Amino acid sequence: MLISHLQVRHLRNLHEVELTPSPRINILFGENGSGKTSLLEAIHLLGLGRSFRTQQYRQLIESGEDALLVFSHIDPTGQGAPRPLGISRAREGELRVRYAGESIGAAELASLMPLLVINSDTFALLEGSPSVRRQFIDWGGFHSDPAFISHWRGFHRVLKQRNSLLKCGKIDSRIRALWDAELVAFAEPLTALRNAWVEALKPRFDEILGELLNGVEVELRFSRGWDAKRPLAEVLDENFERDLRQGFTGSGPQRADLRFRVEGQDAAERLSRGQKKLVVSALKLAQGALFYDQRERACVYLIDDLPSELDARHCRQFCRFLEKSANQCFITCVEPELLSGLWQPDTALSLFRVERGTISQCAAPGDQDER
Ligand SMILES: Nc1ncnc2c1ncn2[C@@H]1O[C@H](COP(=O)(O)OP(=O)(O)OP(=O)(O)O)[C@@H](O)[C@H]1O
Ligand SMILES: [Mg+2]
Repeated sequence: MLISHLQVRHLRNLHEVELTPSPRINILFGENGSGKTSLLEAIHLLGLGRSFRTQQYRQLIESGEDALLVFSHIDPTGQGAPRPLGISRAREGELRVRYAGESIGAAELASLMPLLVINSDTFALLEGSPSVRRQFIDWGGFHSDPAFISHWRGFHRVLKQRNSLLKCGKIDSRIRALWDAELVAFAEPLTALRNAWVEALKPRFDEILGELLNGVEVELRFSRGWDAKRPLAEVLDENFERDLRQGFTGSGPQRADLRFRVEGQDAAERLSRGQKKLVVSALKLAQGALFYDQRERACVYLIDDLPSELDARHCRQFCRFLEKSANQCFITCVEPELLSGLWQPDTALSLFRVERGTISQCAAPGDQDER
C-alpha cells in the first residue's frame, strides 16, 4: 500500500475532497471538466512537488483561494504503518513539504513515492525531444541506485560551468583540463548507471511488448551521447574548438538518448500512432516491473483517460498487466463501463465518481457479489 488516505484542498476545481483509495486499482470517472485530471495532478504534486500540466503553481490554486494543500497518509514500503505526508503552496510563498513531522527536500520526496504517469503527453515519448527520453532513463537511474542523483547533479553543475567558460570565449588550457577531468569523473558513473538500467529494462520490455504488440519487434538501444568507441576525455579534447565556437559542450551524457528501431527503421517513422502508444505502454509497464524486481516496492501509476488512448482489446490487456502487478493505480475515464468490468473478482477495486469538483465512492462491480 502506498497512499492509504488522500485529502485535497483548493487545487483547481477540487475545493475540498477526501478519499480512501484502494491499495491496487482506483477508477475515477466523470464528465469532461469534472476534476479527474486535477486529482491525478494532486497526487503528482504530492509525489514530486510539481504538476505534470503546468510549471506555474498559481494556475493550480483554486480561483479565489490563497493556498492549496494535499495531505495524505502513505506507506512507501508497504510494510510499515502509514505516515503523514503533506504538501502546501500559498500564492505568494514557498512549497512546503512535510513527511512524518519533518520538512523534506525534493530528492527525498521523489524516492518516497515512485510515480509513473501515462497520459497523452507521455504517449509522445517516441517522437518527442531526446530530453523526454533522458527523463525516462533518469527516472530509472534515480530509483535503481542511490548514488545516481549525486552523479547527475555533479555532472550538470560542472557542465554548466564548462558551458559558461565556453561562452566567454577564452579558456586557459590548464583550467580546461581540470574542468574536463571533473566532467568525465561524473559522466562515467552516470552513463554506466543509465546503461545498466536500460539493459535491465530490455527483457521486461520485450516480454510485455510481445503480448501487447504481437509480431512486431522493437529494438531498444541506449545511446550514451558521444561516440560509443571512444573515451569522453578524447572526444572533449578533439571537439574543443567546435565547442568554443558554439559556446556549449556538444558531446556527453547531456546528449544521451534512447533509440527505437523496427527492422532497421526508426520506430517513430515506421509504426502507426496506436502502435507507438503500445510501445510506450510497454515501456511504462516495464519500468514499474523492473522497479518492483529491484526494490521490492510498488509504484503509483497515474493513468489519464486510458480508454481514449487505447482500443478496447489493448485497454483490457494493459489492465491485465496492471492487475498482475503490485502497483497502486489511479485510472481516469469518462465512461466507467469501459474499465470497471475488466478486473478479476479478487482484485481490490475502488470506483469513484467525480462530479463538479466533488468525489464520491461508488459500489464497484462485485461489491454485492455481482462480479
Ligand atoms: N485554478 C483553477 N481554479 C478553479 N477551477 C479551475 C482552475 N484550473 C482549472 N479549473 C477547472 O477545473 C475543472 C477540472 O479540470 P480537469 O482537467 O481536472 O477535468 P477532467 O475531469 O480531467 O476533464 P476531461 O475529461 O475533459 O479531461 C475544469 O472545469 C477547469 O476549468
Ligand atoms: Mg482530464
